[in-house]
Amino acid sequence: MSHHRSAPICPGVAFITGGARGLGLAIAQSFAKEGARGIVLFDIQPDDIMNAAKATIEQYMVEGGKCLTFRGDVTVEEDLEAAVAQTVDEFGRLDYAANFAGVVGPLAATWDVNTKEFKKVIDINCTGVWLSMKVQLKHMLKQDSIDGIEQGRVEQRGAIVNCASVNSIQGGAGTTGYTAAKHAVLGMTKSAALEARGQGVRVNCVSPGFLLTKLLEPAFVPAEGQTTALLTGDAWKQYEDRQGRKASFEEVGDVVALLCNPRMSLVVGHNLVIDGGFTINENPA
Ligand SMILES: NC(=O)c1ccc[n+]([C@@H]2O[C@H](COP(=O)([O-])OP(=O)(O)OC[C@H]3O[C@@H](n4cnc5c(N)ncnc54)[C@H](O)[C@@H]3O)[C@@H](O)[C@H]2O)c1
Repeated sequence: MSHHRSAPICPGVAFITGGARGLGLAIAQSFAKEGARGIVLFDIQPDDIMNAAKATIEQYMVEGGKCLTFRGDVTVEEDLEAAVAQTVDEFGRLDYAANFAGVVGPLAATWDVNTKEFKKVIDINCTGVWLSMKVQLKHMLKQDSIDGIEQGRVEQRGAIVNCASVNSIQGGAGTTGYTAAKHAVLGMTKSAALEARGQGVRVNCVSPGFLLTKLLEPAFVPAEGQTTALLTGDAWKQYEDRQGRKASFEEVGDVVALLCNPRMSLVVGHNLVIDGGFTINENPA
C-alpha cells in the first residue's frame, strides 16, 4: 500500500466573502485548483463583476464542480443567512469559509477622521467578519465530518479562515479604523476558535502583507488625471522592499486553502502571517 498522499487538498465546498476580486478571488481560484466541488462567491459587487469572477473560477473547477455567486452585504445578517442556505441547498454542506470582504476606510489622522467613516470600516471589517462567522458556524456545527479525514485523525466539521492583516499586530499612522478592525478580527478569531474547537470546527485567521489590489490602489496609485496618489513618494516601494519583494495574490489564496485542509487539525485560533518577512524586519528593506 502506498503512503503517498495524492487526493485533492480541498475536495469540499468553499464559501468566500469578498470573492469577486482581489484576494478573495485568488482564494476561490486556489480552492478550485485544490479540487473543491463547490465554490460560492459572496460579494457586494455588481452583476458584471460577479459574472466575470465566476467565469474565471469555472476555468479551474474539477469536472462536475460548480461555482455560484451571491450578491450581498456582509453587514446584513439576512444576506449571509440566505447565501449559506443557498449553499447548503445546492451542495448539501459548507466545508470551508474564507471571510475576506473588507474596505480600507478613511486614511487620515484620528482627529481628521469623520466618525461615520470610522464606524463604517468597523461595521464592514469587524462586524461583517463576526456576522459571517456566526452564520457559517451555526451551519457547520450541525453537519457531519468533512470527507477524507485520514485514519486515526480527529473528525472535523469545517474550517474558517478570517482575514486580518499585518495591521492586526502593528499600527500605522492614519489607519485607526482599519487597524482597530483588524486587531478585532484577531481577537474574535481566537475566541470563536475556542468556542468551536470541541465540536470539530477550526477557526483561524491570516495576515497578508502588501498586495496592490483595488483596495489599496486609491492610496498608492494616482487617479486618472492626477500626478500624485494619497500617499505620495515611494511609499509602496518602501513597503515592498521591507516585505522582500512583490507578492502575488495567489500566494495568499494558496495559504488559505491549505489552512482549510483537515491535516491542519491542531492549528486553532492562529494568525498566520503572509508577508514575506515584513513584520519581522526592523529595517526598511
Ligand atoms: N491588499 C492587501 O495588501 C491586503 C493586506 C492585508 C489584508 N487585506 C485584506 O484582504 C481582504 C480583501 O481585500 P483585497 O485587498 O482583495 O481588496 P479588494 O477591494 O479587491 O477586495 C475586497 C472585496 O470585498 C468586497 N466588499 C467590500 N465591502 C463589502 C460588503 N459590505 N459586503 C460584501 N462584500 C464587500 C468588495 O466588493 C471587494 O470585492 C480585506 O479584508 C483586506 O483588508 C488586504
